[in-house]
Amino acid sequence: MGMTGGCETLEADHRHALQLMKYVEQLLELLPEGRAGEGFGEQDKKTLEALAQFLTQDLPVHIRQEEEVLFPALAEYLGEGGPLAVMEEEHRDIQKLSSEYAAWVGGHGVLQSARQGSAWKRLIDLLRSHIEKEEVILFPLVSEKLSLAERTQLLHALAAIKS
Ligand SMILES: [Fe+2]
Ligand SMILES: [Fe+2]
Repeated sequence: MGMTGGCETLEADHRHALQLMKYVEQLLELLPEGRAGEGFGEQDKKTLEALAQFLTQDLPVHIRQEEEVLFPALAEYLGEGGPLAVMEEEHRDIQKLSSEYAAWVGGHGVLQSARQGSAWKRLIDLLRSHIEKEEVILFPLVSEKLSLAERTQLLHALAAIKS
Protein backbone atom coordinates (compact mmCIF):
# COMPACT_ATOMS: atom_id res chain seq x y z
CA MET A 1 0.00 0.00 0.00
CA GLY A 2 1.24 3.50 -0.83
CA MET A 3 1.73 6.46 1.47
CA THR A 4 -1.92 7.44 1.32
CA GLY A 5 -4.33 4.57 1.78
CA GLY A 6 -7.16 7.00 2.54
CA CYS A 7 -8.42 5.19 5.65
CA GLU A 8 -5.45 5.65 8.02
CA THR A 9 -7.32 7.71 10.61
CA LEU A 10 -10.30 5.35 10.58
CA GLU A 11 -7.92 2.42 11.04
CA ALA A 12 -6.27 4.19 13.98
CA ASP A 13 -9.74 4.71 15.52
CA HIS A 14 -10.40 1.00 15.11
CA ARG A 15 -7.15 0.06 16.89
CA HIS A 16 -8.12 2.41 19.74
CA ALA A 17 -11.63 0.91 19.94
CA LEU A 18 -10.27 -2.65 19.99
CA GLN A 19 -7.76 -1.78 22.73
CA LEU A 20 -10.53 -0.33 24.88
CA MET A 21 -12.75 -3.36 24.31
CA LYS A 22 -9.84 -5.61 25.30
CA TYR A 23 -9.53 -3.60 28.52
CA VAL A 24 -13.24 -3.95 29.30
CA GLU A 25 -12.96 -7.66 28.58
CA GLN A 26 -10.06 -7.91 31.05
CA LEU A 27 -12.18 -6.15 33.67
CA LEU A 28 -15.00 -8.59 32.99
CA GLU A 29 -12.61 -11.46 33.68
CA LEU A 30 -10.95 -9.89 36.72
CA LEU A 31 -13.72 -8.35 38.71
CA PRO A 32 -16.36 -10.55 40.26
CA GLU A 33 -19.88 -9.23 40.43
CA GLY A 34 -20.38 -6.26 42.71
CA ARG A 35 -16.70 -5.32 43.00
CA ALA A 36 -16.57 -2.63 40.34
CA GLY A 37 -13.95 0.01 40.93
CA GLU A 38 -12.06 -1.84 43.65
CA GLY A 39 -8.34 -1.74 43.12
CA PHE A 40 -8.43 0.77 40.29
CA GLY A 41 -5.14 2.63 39.92
CA GLU A 42 -4.25 5.80 38.03
CA GLN A 43 -3.78 3.87 34.80
CA ASP A 44 -7.25 2.34 35.10
CA LYS A 45 -8.78 5.74 35.74
CA LYS A 46 -7.11 7.12 32.63
CA THR A 47 -8.31 4.18 30.58
CA LEU A 48 -11.83 4.56 31.93
CA GLU A 49 -11.79 8.26 31.01
CA ALA A 50 -10.65 7.27 27.52
CA LEU A 51 -13.45 4.72 27.42
CA ALA A 52 -16.06 7.32 28.42
CA GLN A 53 -14.73 9.70 25.78
CA PHE A 54 -14.75 6.92 23.21
CA LEU A 55 -18.40 6.05 23.88
CA THR A 56 -19.72 9.62 23.97
CA GLN A 57 -17.47 11.48 21.50
CA ASP A 58 -14.96 9.46 19.45
CA LEU A 59 -17.45 6.82 18.34
CA PRO A 60 -20.19 9.24 17.16
CA VAL A 61 -17.58 11.25 15.21
CA HIS A 62 -16.15 8.08 13.63
CA ILE A 63 -19.62 6.97 12.58
CA ARG A 64 -20.36 10.38 11.03
CA GLN A 65 -17.04 10.25 9.16
CA GLU A 66 -17.92 6.88 7.70
CA GLU A 67 -21.52 7.72 6.83
CA GLU A 68 -20.89 11.22 5.48
CA VAL A 69 -17.57 10.64 3.71
CA LEU A 70 -16.45 7.02 3.35
CA PHE A 71 -19.75 5.33 2.47
CA PRO A 72 -20.74 7.91 -0.18
CA ALA A 73 -17.29 7.52 -1.75
CA LEU A 74 -17.86 3.76 -2.02
CA ALA A 75 -21.55 3.82 -2.94
CA GLU A 76 -20.92 3.69 -6.69
CA TYR A 77 -18.88 0.51 -6.29
CA LEU A 78 -21.23 -1.20 -3.85
CA GLY A 79 -24.61 0.18 -4.89
CA GLU A 80 -27.45 1.24 -2.63
CA GLY A 81 -28.37 -1.24 0.05
CA GLY A 82 -26.04 -4.23 0.34
CA PRO A 83 -23.00 -3.95 2.62
CA LEU A 84 -23.35 -0.20 3.23
CA ALA A 85 -26.93 -0.54 4.45
CA VAL A 86 -25.82 -3.36 6.76
CA MET A 87 -23.00 -1.21 8.14
CA GLU A 88 -25.37 1.71 8.76
CA GLU A 89 -27.78 -0.57 10.56
CA GLU A 90 -24.92 -1.83 12.74
CA HIS A 91 -23.96 1.80 13.45
CA ARG A 92 -27.45 2.40 14.86
CA ASP A 93 -27.11 -0.66 17.12
CA ILE A 94 -23.60 0.36 18.22
CA GLN A 95 -24.72 3.93 18.96
CA LYS A 96 -27.71 2.76 20.96
CA LEU A 97 -25.60 0.44 23.15
CA SER A 98 -22.66 2.83 23.53
CA SER A 99 -24.78 5.78 24.65
CA GLU A 100 -26.57 3.51 27.11
CA TYR A 101 -23.33 2.10 28.55
CA ALA A 102 -21.55 5.46 28.73
CA ALA A 103 -23.56 6.27 31.86
CA TRP A 104 -22.05 3.23 33.58
CA VAL A 105 -18.48 4.35 32.91
CA GLY A 106 -18.90 7.89 34.24
CA GLY A 107 -19.00 6.74 37.85
CA HIS A 108 -16.28 4.13 37.20
CA GLY A 109 -19.02 1.56 37.71
CA VAL A 110 -18.11 -0.37 34.61
CA LEU A 111 -19.15 -3.68 36.08
CA GLN A 112 -21.84 -3.28 38.66
CA SER A 113 -23.75 -6.39 37.83
CA ALA A 114 -23.67 -9.56 35.83
CA ARG A 115 -26.33 -8.05 33.59
CA GLN A 116 -23.94 -5.23 32.69
CA GLY A 117 -21.24 -7.80 32.03
CA SER A 118 -23.27 -9.61 29.38
CA ALA A 119 -24.38 -6.25 27.99
CA TRP A 120 -20.74 -5.21 27.53
CA LYS A 121 -20.06 -8.49 25.75
CA ARG A 122 -22.75 -7.59 23.20
CA LEU A 123 -21.07 -4.28 22.40
CA ILE A 124 -17.60 -5.88 22.30
CA ASP A 125 -18.75 -8.59 19.86
CA LEU A 126 -20.64 -6.10 17.72
CA LEU A 127 -17.69 -3.70 17.47
CA ARG A 128 -15.24 -6.48 16.67
CA SER A 129 -17.30 -7.98 13.87
CA HIS A 130 -18.24 -4.54 12.51
CA ILE A 131 -14.61 -3.39 12.41
CA GLU A 132 -13.52 -6.63 10.78
CA LYS A 133 -16.13 -6.24 8.02
CA GLU A 134 -15.04 -2.67 7.34
CA GLU A 135 -11.39 -3.62 7.19
CA VAL A 136 -11.92 -6.73 5.08
CA ILE A 137 -14.61 -5.44 2.69
CA LEU A 138 -14.67 -1.62 2.65
CA PHE A 139 -11.15 -0.31 3.27
CA PRO A 140 -9.47 -2.48 0.60
CA LEU A 141 -12.02 -1.09 -1.92
CA VAL A 142 -10.73 2.41 -1.18
CA SER A 143 -7.16 1.57 -2.15
CA GLU A 144 -8.36 -0.55 -5.07
CA LYS A 145 -10.88 1.82 -6.67
CA LEU A 146 -9.94 5.36 -5.66
CA SER A 147 -7.08 7.30 -7.24
CA LEU A 148 -4.33 8.84 -5.13
CA ALA A 149 -5.98 12.25 -5.54
CA GLU A 150 -9.34 10.84 -4.44
CA ARG A 151 -7.79 9.10 -1.43
CA THR A 152 -6.02 12.30 -0.41
CA GLN A 153 -9.30 14.18 -0.73
CA LEU A 154 -10.97 11.48 1.35
CA LEU A 155 -8.45 11.97 4.17
CA HIS A 156 -9.08 15.73 4.15
CA ALA A 157 -12.85 15.27 4.14
CA LEU A 158 -12.61 12.83 7.07
CA ALA A 159 -10.45 15.29 9.03
CA ALA A 160 -13.01 18.06 8.45
CA ILE A 161 -15.60 16.15 10.49
CA LYS A 162 -15.06 16.66 14.20
CA SER A 163 -17.27 16.72 17.25
FE1 LIG B 1 -18.44 1.67 11.02
FE1 LIG C 1 -15.24 2.06 11.46
